[in-house]
Amino acid sequence: MTNSEKTTPSNFKIRYAKPNHIDAIFEIEKKCFPSLIRYSKQELVYLILQSNSICLIETIGEVVRAFLIVNFRAGSLIGRIVTIDVDPVFQNRGIGLRLLEKAESDMRQRGMRWSQLEVAETNNVAIALYTKAGYRFKEMIENYYKSKQHGTCNAIRMIKSLSQNSLS
Ligand SMILES: CC(C)(COP(=O)(O)OP(=O)(O)OC[C@H]1O[C@@H](n2cnc3c(N)ncnc32)[C@H](O)[C@@H]1OP(=O)(O)O)[C@@H](O)C(=O)NCCC(=O)NCCS
Repeated sequence: MTNSEKTTPSNFKIRYAKPNHIDAIFEIEKKCFPSLIRYSKQELVYLILQSNSICLIETIGEVVRAFLIVNFRAGSLIGRIVTIDVDPVFQNRGIGLRLLEKAESDMRQRGMRWSQLEVAETNNVAIALYTKAGYRFKEMIENYYKSKQHGTCNAIRMIKSLSQNSLS
């Protein structure tokens, strides 16, 4: 794949998820996190349908290739990226970066000043994506991810000022 194919904006159709997309979203979550700590379908339903969050999906035809959830808190100027998942079949084509850009644009329109997220300290691919998009280390949170089966994992909290462009 050439660089121009990877970054042509017209390749990416991004819109808000509807309840009928939840099954496809959960399938992507399972593929992205087959044996690690991941969101249950119930948690995703709550996150996608609650009024203080948005879920963006990237689609080709009727196929959902990726999703991203942002949560907003009353009185806060920080939009919180809850998760971003790209179906492994479609990874490394620029979809993750485009979804992030769209989410940041949405946050700006809602008056947010910063975008913040947590990522497992071992998730080098996601850390590379966020760094490329302009996110910077804020703090380390010990044992942020907890699971009876898989134990605990530290998270890195990263933040980006929304007054800057996506690529830094
Ligand atoms: C992290 C993830 C969302 C990236 O999505 P993607 O669509 O594959 O990423 P993009 O193609 O937009 O890549 C953008 C940048 O991310 C980085 N990146 C992406 N894949 C990478 C890889 N395999 N190795 C190293 N860096 C990578 C690169 O900096 C890349 O820019 P470049 O291609 O110019 O080098 C995707 O790998 C994913 O869904 N992973 C599983 C779920 C997950 O871990 N989510 C994060 C939860 S916090």
